[in-house]
Amino acid sequence: MKFFIDTANLDQIREAQALGVLDGVTTNPSLMAKEGITGKQNILKHYVAICNIVDGDVSAEVIATDFDGMVKEGEALAKLHPQIVVKIPMIQDGIKAIKYFSDKGIRTNCTLVFSSGQALLAAKAGATYVSPFIGRLDDISTDGLNLIAEIRTIYDNYAFDTQILAASVRHTMHVLDCAKIGSDVMTGPLSSIVGLLKHPLTDSGLKQFLADYNKGN
Ligand code: E4P
Repeated sequence: MKFFIDTANLDQIREAQALGVLDGVTTNPSLMAKEGITGKQNILKHYVAICNIVDGDVSAEVIATDFDGMVKEGEALAKLHPQIVVKIPMIQDGIKAIKYFSDKGIRTNCTLVFSSGQALLAAKAGATYVSPFIGRLDDISTDGLNLIAEIRTIYDNYAFDTQILAASVRHTMHVLDCAKIGSDVMTGPLSSIVGLLKHPLTDSGLKQFLADYNKGN
């Protein structure tokens, strides 16, 4: 499973990259605003800065909600850097734009996906990634992980190439459950990645090993 980090914070992206297990980055307008990155030119510069830190795919979201606007913005984003994947919302014109980009060989991430029907449409339009938001479904007492499982079944039934990018991941159990189901990618905060290495028996075992070593020294 690929690990993406879901942030626009450059320090956290650097830290995840330094771990050696990072495969990409997802951002969205809210994550940019959280870092104080506002205004079109600053946002574009920030995407390039992120691409210069990581080796993998970096999702950059269009703001337009009409087909022509999404095409114009998406083409400009794709030209920014070869690692950019154009992030497009799951709306009617978004599906048309995904099909347009797919035909032109421009990679896309279909975002704000909350049902398997939406995921089926995104795959048929040729999306590179589909982003089901599992945490936000959990927030409204709906089973986000079940959505990942449903999409996995549908994509496997028809051998769709679209990769399932489990988004809105909140914690390590989401990461593990997505891995068990067979999600191709997960995107979450740095804590959801670093949390995987924690176990109290590792800590106590290491403490004991070091104490025993020091007895003879
Ligand atoms: C995905 O690409 C989104 O940026 C993200 O995962 C949304 O997560 P949130 O529900 O924690 O805002």
